[in-house]
Amino acid sequence: MASLPLSTVAITNISSLSRPPRLPQPPHRLTISCNTSESHPGKVDRRNLLLGMGGLYGASNLILPGAAPASPIPAPDLAKCTRGTNLNLRQPLDVDCCPPFSENALDYKLPSATDIRVRPAAHLADNAFIAKYEKATVLMKALPADDPRSFMQQANVHCAYCNLTYDQGGADPSNKLQIHFSWLFFPWHRWYLYFYERILAKLIDDPTFALPYWNWDNPKGMAMPSMFVKENSPLFNPRRNQAHLPLTNPPPYADLRFSKKSSTPQDKVVPSNLTEMYSEMVRSAVNLEDFYGAKYELGAKPDPGAGTVERGSHTAIHAWVGDPNSPAGEDMGNFYSTGRDPLFFCHHANVDRMWSVWRDLRGSKPKEFADPDWLDTSFLFYDENAQLVRVKVRDTVENLKMGYTFQKVEIPWLNKRPKTKARVRKLKVAEESSAPKATDASVFPVKLDKVVRVLVDRPKRKRSKGEKEKEEELLVIEGIEVDTSEFVRFEVFVNDEDDGPSDVIDLAEYAGGYSQVPHKNAANVKSKMRLGLTELLEDLDVEDDDKILVSLVPRDGGEDITIGGVKIIYV
Ligand code: C2O
Repeated sequence: MASLPLSTVAITNISSLSRPPRLPQPPHRLTISCNTSESHPGKVDRRNLLLGMGGLYGASNLILPGAAPASPIPAPDLAKCTRGTNLNLRQPLDVDCCPPFSENALDYKLPSATDIRVRPAAHLADNAFIAKYEKATVLMKALPADDPRSFMQQANVHCAYCNLTYDQGGADPSNKLQIHFSWLFFPWHRWYLYFYERILAKLIDDPTFALPYWNWDNPKGMAMPSMFVKENSPLFNPRRNQAHLPLTNPPPYADLRFSKKSSTPQDKVVPSNLTEMYSEMVRSAVNLEDFYGAKYELGAKPDPGAGTVERGSHTAIHAWVGDPNSPAGEDMGNFYSTGRDPLFFCHHANVDRMWSVWRDLRGSKPKEFADPDWLDTSFLFYDENAQLVRVKVRDTVENLKMGYTFQKVEIPWLNKRPKTKARVRKLKVAEESSAPKATDASVFPVKLDKVVRVLVDRPKRKRSKGEKEKEEELLVIEGIEVDTSEFVRFEVFVNDEDDGPSDVIDLAEYAGGYSQVPHKNAANVKSKMRLGLTELLEDLDVEDDDKILVSLVPRDGGEDITIGGVKIIYV
């Protein structure tokens, strides 16, 4: 019953797609298996590869009998979890985060959602709620260490899926699974919180229990929620940035453009955060891929590109909470340890809420991918009965069908479209600039140990309203290579002439930022980021210009960032 309406949703969205389906990944990203078998449903059939070479792969409606063109990532094989792995931080660190082994994974069916749990905003939660949450967490921490529902085992779930401990499931066993930096980010974390929440609820035998969300997109909720900082509470964790605890009046607000070297001054943090949220949720998140992250299917390398929220506010909170005096930013500031801080789940409940809010803003535009490579990607979790279950992305698209919703609060960033300061006319900035062209062979690749400015050609100008609605103009920063064991951040500005745009808080010139939570490295991974330009160019009044001046501004770890190129596309 439960899966039927979901598939109806997917079909509806196929027919409402106004744009042609995305081009398939080039054949070299596929892995070939000579013996496709039912136990490895994700392996790519050679026939499909041949089909791809023949150019027919892109015809999405063409499904030959017996051939399955999709190649979603299958649920990981627990037996192949790499135990005692070196997480490749700067200092050697061996953490075993593999789950207890179990052979029998059941296909998970969403229970029919009759009573809807309501996740409260953490800053509005009352004492009765906090008492329940504390009690449930105490009980979770008291479970035997090898119980997959115990607090440390739950923390390790994040480590296992985020530090390349599982095989991805394709033909190449060295290609490991990474559920960040791609379109798996929102669905995987939704499942993770879903089971964590159900385990807590079951421990206190309260089916209405729901995780609180840290409402960091709203000034009223921007401080670290106080229920997590009482020293005798099970929600307390000493491994946090002590300068960011809510112990002063007013308390420090989380900086959604945080970097350790240049954080936003506290008196500017609210406008800066609201601009950031507007950019992540509206201005730069027009296409599905830009919000969700890039396609990541069987055979693909990790980190094809994170979505706006993942690489922005989400990463900023991790880095803002983690303890800068611990060896690797523990706990929140590193993927292997982040699940050890109860605050992680409160943070991610708001990330999860952002997904629901964004969908609500979409109107008639597609709200999720219709691509089976996304819908049929599978994961394994232990449920509240310690039963191993296999879940799919397709069951995550609507939180109500999963039995929960969010306490409604105002959304203060919705009307925060940034404005150019009246005194700064951005016309002619590019024309008068002496910066090199992005296409000059000498420019890229470049290390971001300094501000890098380039002129980028705009293939289309003076686009009509209809053209803009049909195609978003996107600035693509590609070939991004970073040291993944370090926190890094850089920001991108358009037609900004100042040398140190650190004063830029809510200006139209800010196109977006890239940041990353440290994690285990996969060698030679190049990522990309796409930034929406359509609104930005309107705001700067430069839609007639045939080029723009792009500034890449390192904020943290610039010496560890290399950029491969910058260009404009229309999608
Ligand atoms: Cu899986 Cu916020 O990290």
